[in-house]
Amino acid sequence: MTTLLELKHVSKQYGSDTKALSDISFAVKEGEFVSIIGPSGAGKSTLLRCMNRMIEASSGAIIFDNADITAFRKRELKKLRTSIGMIFQHYNLVNRLSVIENVLHGRLGYKSMLAGVLGIYTEEEKKKAHAILGVLGLQEQIYKRCDQLSGGQKQRVGIARALVQNPKMLLCDEPIASLDPNASKVIMDHLAHICSTMGITVVVNLHQVDVALSYSNRIIGVNKGTIVYDGTPAGLTKDRLRGIYGAEYDELEGSGGRNAG
Ligand SMILES: Nc1ncnc2c1ncn2[C@@H]1O[C@H](COP(=O)(O)OP(=O)(O)O)[C@@H](O)[C@H]1O
Ligand SMILES: [Mg+2]
Repeated sequence: MTTLLELKHVSKQYGSDTKALSDISFAVKEGEFVSIIGPSGAGKSTLLRCMNRMIEASSGAIIFDNADITAFRKRELKKLRTSIGMIFQHYNLVNRLSVIENVLHGRLGYKSMLAGVLGIYTEEEKKKAHAILGVLGLQEQIYKRCDQLSGGQKQRVGIARALVQNPKMLLCDEPIASLDPNASKVIMDHLAHICSTMGITVVVNLHQVDVALSYSNRIIGVNKGTIVYDGTPAGLTKDRLRGIYGAEYDELEGSGGRNAG
């Protein structure tokens, strides 16, 4: 399988004293489902946001789809971001707008400023948005305002908005952290289905180790801005989990939660 994304010696420094990422290198193949786990503050969000240059790495290189995106300027960046969908913990929807309007926002990256401001979408774009909402089980919600939806429904709208972009990769930052277990399962099942049936590469930051274990082809464990594990779910032993989470691991396990697997 071909490599879709590669990070080479990526570091990120915030201000003068916070080193969020130190010399991170790994490659993601097309169609992989990769989970990134680690305690809070480990650098997971920073890492994910460096991948589409929402955050600028301080050093290192990022290769996406055979192009070195590190030096991309405005127009190239806009194009890059159409091929990378982002899913957020708090959905980032416009709550006073309808579901379909939010989903069509995923097409803005393809439009001129004027067409975007006027909300001009083609019939084809609208048809595609409807079809995707159908796949995600939101056909009844299409014209509802987003503030009338449950958290799980809002996250499905977020996924639909990312999918209308025609992305090659989805970056998901704690997509289920605000959801109950049932809604979380629905979201993770959709992400897995999108990966396996549409061939879209999925990289997801997760706090729940058990979820990472059951959905991923590969798990990357991050601690204090460095990769301390990169391998299969099966290879993630208790010792290695302790290496990723440190003292927090015993706490999670002691609490009886399935959080730490
Ligand atoms: N905008 C920022 N400015 C300064 N420090 C930041 C900023 N964002 C994150 N950090 C710091 O960088 C480190 C990694 O944060 P983050 O990437 O959010 O970790 P995680 O997502 O694993 O919780 C933390 O020490 C955090 O406080
Ligand atoms: Mg985070």
